[in-house]
Amino acid sequence: MQLLIGTLLGLLVASAAFENSITDYAPIVNIDCPDFSTTEFVREWTATNQTVNPNEQEYVDTRINTTIAAAWIDWIGDGSQIGYNASSFTGIFPKIGLAIPGGGLRAAQFGAAALSGIDARNESAKSAGTGGLLQVSSYLSGLSGGSWITGSLLFNDFPPLGDLVFGNGGNLTGWLLDLDFALPDGDDVFSEYNQYFFGSILYSIMAKANTGIDTSITDPWARMISYHFLNQTSRSNFFTNDSAHGAGQLWHNIPTIPAWQQHLTPFPILVTDSRPQSLNATTSLTLDPTVYEITPFEFASYDPDLSAGLPINASACVIGFDQAGFMMGTSASLFNQILDFAHNTLQGFDSSDSNGLLYVLSQQLSEVRTRADDVANWPNPFQQVKTSTYDDTNSTWLSLIDGASNGENIPLGPLFVRERALDVIVPLDGSADDPNNWPNGTGMLVSALRQSTLLEASHQQFPPLPQNAQAFIATGTRERATFFGCDPTQNPPEYPLVIYIPNMPPFNGDAPAANDIRPVYNNTISGFVPNTNDADPNFGKCLQCAAVDRARYKLSPTVFPPTLNRSDFCQTCFTQYCFDPENPPSLSEVPNRQQTFVDPDPTGLVDFLEENETKLIGGVVGLVVFIVLLVGGL
Ligand SMILES: *[C@@H]1O[C@H](CO)[C@@H](O)[C@H](O)[C@H]1NC(C)=O
Ligand SMILES: *[C@@H]1O[C@H](CO)[C@@H](O)[C@H](O)[C@H]1NC(C)=O
Ligand SMILES: *[C@@H]1O[C@H](CO)[C@@H](O)[C@H](O)[C@H]1NC(C)=O
Ligand SMILES: *[C@@H]1O[C@H](CO)[C@@H](O)[C@H](O)[C@H]1NC(C)=O
Ligand SMILES: *[C@@H]1O[C@H](CO)[C@@H](O)[C@H](O)[C@H]1NC(C)=O
Ligand SMILES: *[C@@H]1O[C@H](CO)[C@@H](O)[C@H](O)[C@H]1NC(C)=O
Ligand SMILES: *[C@@H]1O[C@H](CO)[C@@H](O)[C@H](O)[C@H]1NC(C)=O
Ligand SMILES: *[C@@H]1O[C@H](CO)[C@@H](O)[C@H](O)[C@H]1NC(C)=O
Ligand SMILES: *[C@@H]1O[C@H](CO)[C@@H](O)[C@H](O)[C@H]1NC(C)=O
Ligand SMILES: *[C@@H]1O[C@H](CO)[C@@H](O)[C@H](O)[C@H]1NC(C)=O
Ligand SMILES: *[C@@H]1O[C@H](CO)[C@@H](O)[C@H](O)[C@H]1NC(C)=O
Ligand SMILES: *[C@@H]1O[C@H](CO)[C@@H](O)[C@H](O)[C@H]1NC(C)=O
Repeated sequence: MQLLIGTLLGLLVASAAFENSITDYAPIVNIDCPDFSTTEFVREWTATNQTVNPNEQEYVDTRINTTIAAAWIDWIGDGSQIGYNASSFTGIFPKIGLAIPGGGLRAAQFGAAALSGIDARNESAKSAGTGGLLQVSSYLSGLSGGSWITGSLLFNDFPPLGDLVFGNGGNLTGWLLDLDFALPDGDDVFSEYNQYFFGSILYSIMAKANTGIDTSITDPWARMISYHFLNQTSRSNFFTNDSAHGAGQLWHNIPTIPAWQQHLTPFPILVTDSRPQSLNATTSLTLDPTVYEITPFEFASYDPDLSAGLPINASACVIGFDQAGFMMGTSASLFNQILDFAHNTLQGFDSSDSNGLLYVLSQQLSEVRTRADDVANWPNPFQQVKTSTYDDTNSTWLSLIDGASNGENIPLGPLFVRERALDVIVPLDGSADDPNNWPNGTGMLVSALRQSTLLEASHQQFPPLPQNAQAFIATGTRERATFFGCDPTQNPPEYPLVIYIPNMPPFNGDAPAANDIRPVYNNTISGFVPNTNDADPNFGKCLQCAAVDRARYKLSPTVFPPTLNRSDFCQTCFTQYCFDPENPPSLSEVPNRQQTFVDPDPTGLVDFLEENETKLIGGVVGLVVFIVLLVGGL
C-alpha cells in the first residue's frame, strides 16, 4: 500500500514537474519502498517450475489469438501453395521468436534490413513470400546494437523499417546516421554546436546524479543513443533544448504505444550481462555470471541461480530508472572490456565517437564520481534473494555490461526459456565474427554451450549444430539460410526448430558493400539454389514451410513421426535448407561468394571498423588510458 501511494505521488510529481525536458532523465527516488515482508515485490520461481510474468503472458496470448492468427492467414493463405490445409492448424500455429545480435550500428542496420525482408508490409518481401514472418512472431530479442533497433521499432510505433531508418518525410525523422553519435557537429570537440550538445547531455546526467543514483559512462552513451533511436529528435531540434530527446521515455511505457495496444508488435526483450561484484573483470566474461533480461514489464533472470524478476517500473523503490535510452545503453555497455578485441564490442566506435564520449565523461566525472565509471550502475533489486545460489545476493549495486560480454552475441537465452515454449527461433545473425565481419556461428555455439551446461533445467536445448566455427564455414551454413532441428525424434520435440539467417555475402556474387541495407534485404528474401548464384523462387514458401512445420506435431490425433505427413513441397524445401548432421552440406554449394567488402560507405552513413581499425583502436586505447589517468588522479 505504501508503495502504491508513493508510486502515485511519484507519478503525479513526474508529470507535473517535467512536461518535456532533458532533465526528465532523472529518476524519482523519494518513493517509499514496499514492505518486503508483506509485498510480493520480487517474483520468484525455480528452474524446473518457472512462471512467466502474467502481463507478458497476457500480451503474448492475446496477440496470438488476434493479430497473429490473422497474420498467418495473410502469410500462408489457405496453405495450399505449400501443400497443407491451413485451417487444420488453427489454434496450433507455432510460437516464434526473432533474435537480433550485437555489433553496434552495423548490427542495427543489418537487423533493420533483415526485418524488412520478413515484413509483410514490404511489398517485394510479401510477393517473395518471406514478408509475413515478422507479423507471426511472438518475441523479438535484441542485445547491444540489436537492442537499438528493437527499442527504436517500439518507440516509433512499429513503422515499416525503411521509414524507421531513413525517415518518412513526416513524423519519422529516421536515425540521422550522418550525425555522429558523440560528435554530431564534426570532429572538433570544442565547436559551438558540439558544446551545446554536450551541455544538454551533461544537464540530463547531472539531473540523474543529483538524485543520488550512481552514474557512469553508460549515461552519456544512453543519451547519445536516444537522439538517434527514439522519436523526439529531428534534424531541426538536434542542437536545441526544445526537445527532451527521449529523456522522459521509459521502458515500462511501451504498453501505451498505439502499435502495442493493437498487439501489432512482437514482445521485446533486451539482454544484459553482469559483472559480479566479486570480479573486477575488464575482459570478456566466462559463461557463469548472471544474464539478465529487460522487458516492458520486468527486469529478470531465468538463470537457475536467480530465477526471479521484478517490475521494471519500480526497480528498488525508484521510478523512472528505466529510461529507454539507458536500457539500450546498458545492453550496449561495452566499456569495461573495451580492450578485449576478441568480440564485436568495438563496432560502431570510431575515433571521433571515442573522443566525444571521452570528453563528456571527463566533464561528468569532474562533477560527480560514483562507484564504477565503466559499467551501467543499477541498484540491485535482488538483494537477499536466492541467498544460496545468487552471486550478487549481498550486493547493493549491480554492474551491468554489454549483453554480448560472455560471448553470447545473439540474444537467444530468453527465447529458449522453457516456460515461454517457443517452437521456432530465428537468429538474424549479424555478428561480426571473422576478419571480414561475417558471422561464423560462434554466437549460436556459445549459447548452445551455456544452455547445455548451466541452463539445462531452465531452458530448451539447441538442435544439432555444426561442431565449431570451422564447421559452420566448411558446411556453408553461414552463407545461406539454414534450418536446424528439422526432424526431432520425439513428440513433443526435444528442441525448437531454428531458422538461421546469417549476414552473408550477396548470393548473386556481387561484392559486398558495408552498411548497405539493400543487399542484406535482397539476401533475406532470396534464399539460395545449390551450386549457383541464383535466387530461389521458392524460398519464401520454404520459409513458410519451416515456420509452420511444428504445428504438425500438435495435430490431434498425432501423426508420428510427423515426417510422414510433411507435404511433398515442404519436404523438398527441407532437403535443400535443413542441416542434417549425418550428411552435412558443403561450402561448394554456395559458390562465388565474395568475402571482402568494397566501398564500405557508399551512402556516406557512418564510419565503420573495416575502414577505421587503426584509428579506432587508437581512440579506444586513448579512452581507457584517459579513464585510468582520471581515476588515478581523483
Ligand atoms: C510450481 O509453482 C506453482 C506456484 O508458482 C505451485 O503452485 C506448484 O505447486 C509448483 N509445482 C511444482 C511441481 O512444484
Ligand atoms: C486464446 O485462445 C485460446 C483458445 O481459443 C483460449 O483458450 C485462450 O483463453 C485465449 N487467450 C487469450 C489471452 O485470449
Ligand atoms: C480444410 O479443412 C477444413 C476443416 O478443417 C475443411 O472444411 C476444408 O474443406 C478443407 N479444405 C480443403 C481444400 O481441403
Ligand atoms: C522493401 O524494403 C527494402 C529494404 O528496406 C526497400 O529498399 C524497399 O524500398 C522496400 N519496398 C517496399 C515496396 O516497401
Ligand atoms: C513519440 O512516441 C510517443 C510514444 O512512445 C508518442 O506519445 C509521441 O507522440 C511520439 N512523439 C513524436 C514527436 O512523434
Ligand atoms: C505518424 O503519422 C502516421 C500517419 O501519418 C500515424 O499513423 C502514426 O501513428 C504517427 N506516428 C507517431 C509516432 O506519431
Ligand atoms: C541546454 O541547456 C544546458 C543547461 O542550461 C546547456 O548547458 C546546454 O548547452 C543547452 N543545450 C543547447 C543545445 O542549447
Ligand atoms: C575491485 O576494485 C575495487 C576498486 O577498484 C577494489 O576496491 C576491490 O578490492 C576490487 N575487488 C577485487 C575482487 O579485485
Ligand atoms: C508498473 O507496471 C504494472 C504493470 O506491469 C502496473 O500495474 C503499475 O501500475 C505500474 N506502476 C507504475 C509506477 O507505473
Ligand atoms: C552473503 O553474505 C553472507 C553473510 O555475510 C555470507 O554468508 C554469504 O556467503 C554471502 N553470499 C555471497 C554469495 O557472497
Ligand atoms: C569465429 O569467430 C570468433 C569470434 O566470434 C573468432 O574468435 C574466431 O577466430 C572465428 N573463427 C573462425 C574459424 O573464423
Ligand atoms: C537483388 O537481386 C537481384 C537478383 O535477384 C539483382 O538483380 C539485384 O541487382 C540485386 N540488388 C541488389 C541491390 O543487390
